[in-house]
Amino acid sequence: MERKTLHVQLAERSYPIHIGPALLAELPALLRAAGAVDAGKLFILTDENVAPLYLERLKRNLEADGFAVAACIVEAGEQAKRLAVYEQVMTEAIEAGLDRKSLLIALGGGVIGDLGGFVAATFMRGISFVQVPTTLLAHDSSVGGKVAINHPLGKNLIGAFHQPMLVVYDTDTLRSLPKREVAAGFAEVIKHGLISDERFVGWLEQHAEQLKSLDPEYVGEAIKRGCAVKAEVVSADEREQGLRATLNLGHTFGHAFEALLDYGTLNHGEAIAIGMGLAADVAERMGLAPEGTAKRTRQLLQRFELPVAWPQQLTPEAVLEVMRRDKKSVGGKLVLILPRAIGRVEIVKEIEESLVLQVMNKAQEEQTG
Ligand SMILES: NC(=O)c1ccc[n+]([C@@H]2O[C@H](COP(=O)([O-])OP(=O)(O)OC[C@H]3O[C@@H](n4cnc5c(N)ncnc54)[C@H](O)[C@@H]3O)[C@@H](O)[C@H]2O)c1
Ligand SMILES: [Zn+2]
Repeated sequence: MERKTLHVQLAERSYPIHIGPALLAELPALLRAAGAVDAGKLFILTDENVAPLYLERLKRNLEADGFAVAACIVEAGEQAKRLAVYEQVMTEAIEAGLDRKSLLIALGGGVIGDLGGFVAATFMRGISFVQVPTTLLAHDSSVGGKVAINHPLGKNLIGAFHQPMLVVYDTDTLRSLPKREVAAGFAEVIKHGLISDERFVGWLEQHAEQLKSLDPEYVGEAIKRGCAVKAEVVSADEREQGLRATLNLGHTFGHAFEALLDYGTLNHGEAIAIGMGLAADVAERMGLAPEGTAKRTRQLLQRFELPVAWPQQLTPEAVLEVMRRDKKSVGGKLVLILPRAIGRVEIVKEIEESLVLQVMNKAQEEQTG
């Protein structure tokens, strides 16, 4: 299969995203092509799940090509985006003798991309970094340059904008992902279709089977299209003034579910899948989107093994309470990203809470009834 390359164009700089099978082996050549020839030392950051699968191979490839490589392995999961882990990585980077010409390679999912990107943004006031994503969800985090860690008082509160110099997406690495993580990644891929491109949605519907089996040809195309949609939105609105908010389709509901449920009950992709169905319900109820929008949205999500039913443990009132605290809400009225149709969304202000509550009540009844 051919490698696909997408160029992300952003104001201050642009960078390529290479997508395809067996790309880990090509990383040394891709680094040289991107101008990393005199990178003093490479510092690979990865997590304890990814390390046993891909770290040694990557290290060997790079060393065989003459690069000096150090590696740092952190715990897996969202917990790695803690200040204490950030400090640990900084310590290891200093001890490994990195300097301002060194290059950080983030080998892992969105967590490693966010943590590694923030380390790179701040180590000696900033060094270059390369993302080697190993989850499908990381197609989302590899575009936009937002890098961050969490504070005990909130997610992603400590961060920066720091663009990678290169993204190398080896689609073979996705094969070791747990099924649930694959589905979660597809939730964001589907979201990218729903906000901007009905034809892409049609393509996802048509090729769900090939995509779910991670056929490299199809999955490579899905990643490329997903990244392209995000890149387009982000380059039109790099600092999140307006348009970028559309990337939050399903997220006001989804974040409320995540906040109310114990970690692990629903992952992010699952939470926003349910949220995207509800957003379509609200849009239909307001007469904003044609009838059938919610049905088609849910059918697509279900084909990718994503949940769409109301989470039984939660009451609509509790969810609404959390939604009120969303960054987007203004003066007691909710602001939601809603579909106008499949492939088109709008930022809708001043939504009546009672209407949202009705929609959630109905979803809950359908679930229990
Ligand atoms: N910066 C952004 O714009 C942006 C956008 C979206 C999400 N994010 C962030 O991304 C994070 C979520 O990313 P994620 O879902 O990739 O999570 P993750 O990095 O925690 O990966 C999910 C799990 O899969 C494991 N894993 C990773 N690759 C694997 C592989 N190839 N085989 C087997 N296991 C593997 C990991 O160890 C982890 O347990 C969140 O912290 C979120 O805030 C950032
Ligand atoms: Zn998301």
